[in-house]
Amino acid sequence: MSTSKGTLPTIVVHGGAGEIPEADRPAHVEGCRRAAQAGWEALAAGGSALDGVEAAVRVMEDDPTFDAGHGSFLNAVGEVELDAIVMNGHDLSLGAVAAVQRVRHPVSLARLVMQKSNHSFLVGPAADDFARQHGMPICPPWELLSERELERWKKFQAGEAPPPPDYFTPCGTVGAVALDEQGNLAAATSTGGTPNKLPGRVGDSPLVGCGAYADNRSAAASATGEGEALMKIVISKTTCDLVLQGLRPQVAAEAVVELLGERTGGHGGLILLDRQGRFGIAHNTSYIAYAVAAADGSIQAGICYPAKK
Ligand code: GLY
Repeated sequence: MSTSKGTLPTIVVHGGAGEIPEADRPAHVEGCRRAAQAGWEALAAGGSALDGVEAAVRVMEDDPTFDAGHGSFLNAVGEVELDAIVMNGHDLSLGAVAAVQRVRHPVSLARLVMQKSNHSFLVGPAADDFARQHGMPICPPWELLSERELERWKKFQAGEAPPPPDYFTPCGTVGAVALDEQGNLAAATSTGGTPNKLPGRVGDSPLVGCGAYADNRSAAASATGEGEALMKIVISKTTCDLVLQGLRPQVAAEAVVELLGERTGGHGGLILLDRQGRFGIAHNTSYIAYAVAAADGSIQAGICYPAKK
């Protein structure tokens, strides 16, 4: 299908649903804007939807504002463990990694797993080894640490972490959904998980249908929030299925976030894009940062505030 989309969105990104302290909001908005710009440039250069979501997420993995790549939350033993997924809506191919500690761009490692192995999901040191074997740059674990997250971790260790929501509400997982000129959809999500998580804990983000899903027959989705809750309702696939049933993306996104609250009591949000370039953003957290790039290169970035609390 050839699409002449004019100003319709080609890529939508999010920078995580949760609490965003006022002072940090400009950085979240700017980080999303830069990610959408990178994704749009990949698409405008003739790249696939997969190229677009990977380019966008890589920018946010490099930005310590977000809980992905460099600057991610530390686990209970003071280490960064990263999870990511990519999915191609054209043929449902996917790649995912979890608990990796030696790559700056887990989203690219997830794509490498998709394209260079017969598998869909690699975890832990073996996934880092796979990256090394395929020539992906390997980084020492300390390169993923940020001063801010080290300070946060020390507060956890000292029993001084502030009560929820400031420190316990996950925020900063990143994701992108894109539609390319061929009419193909793709989705990607990347995260450092939750602060002070148990070593080895894996949330929703790298789980297909939970952290992300993409199917040209329905939509592409990327989710963010409390992984233990999001995975219970397989949030991304559930939302795509609602689009397949005929719901507009915004209506589907709102419906599934409502379901999340009703069935799990959990908090989160998601972005959604269909093949007509219609998108949806919904959350039941306080905030979600986002950016939307249209086919003409115009970008709208901002923070969605709570509709109700
Ligand atoms: N949604 C990110 C996580 O729970 O790991």
